[in-house]
Amino acid sequence: MVQRTGDGAGMAVEDWSDGVMEQDKAKTSPPEPSRRSFLKKVWMVLGFVALAEFIGLVVAFLKPRKPRIKEGDFGGIITAGAVDDFAPNSVTAFRQGKFYLSRLEDGGFLALSRKCTHLGCTVTWDSEKKRFECPCHASAFDNKGNVINPPAPRALDLYAVSIENGIVKVDTGRKAQRKS
Ligand code: FES
Repeated sequence: MVQRTGDGAGMAVEDWSDGVMEQDKAKTSPPEPSRRSFLKKVWMVLGFVALAEFIGLVVAFLKPRKPRIKEGDFGGIITAGAVDDFAPNSVTAFRQGKFYLSRLEDGGFLALSRKCTHLGCTVTWDSEKKRFECPCHASAFDNKGNVINPPAPRALDLYAVSIENGIVKVDTGRKAQRKS
């Protein structure tokens, strides 16, 4: 705003525009303290979010994990059955467990992987010939898994067998490789 005072020649001009603009600025921009308190609130909210995420991570880390492999599934412990269910000199296939349970003449048990040690084809048990045969390249193994016909380079792998209260259990998560 411009205000004129005095006579024509010596007229003084007062410029109020700065004052008006200052007033306008004061009207349009929020007062400094409220902007500070707004920023303070934003930081508090962000802090709470970060804290909640951190607590969530800690809880997830400390929470006991469910076993990925259930008992009875391949990779876990499979209950094969009672010892007396398996006759000496017999071989029983466990498809779900991907192994054969071979009961030897002396009453012992071997859990043999069904994976051929040549290139991994699935071997089958021939009950007449009393041997495992691979359909891919004709490898053959006896009932202990030993190679009786190459090209398989070594015996069939073994899974850990345990007997608890007369029940045979096979741990398909523990496989042992044999050298020959
Ligand atoms: S994969 Fe079994 S003989 Fe080749």
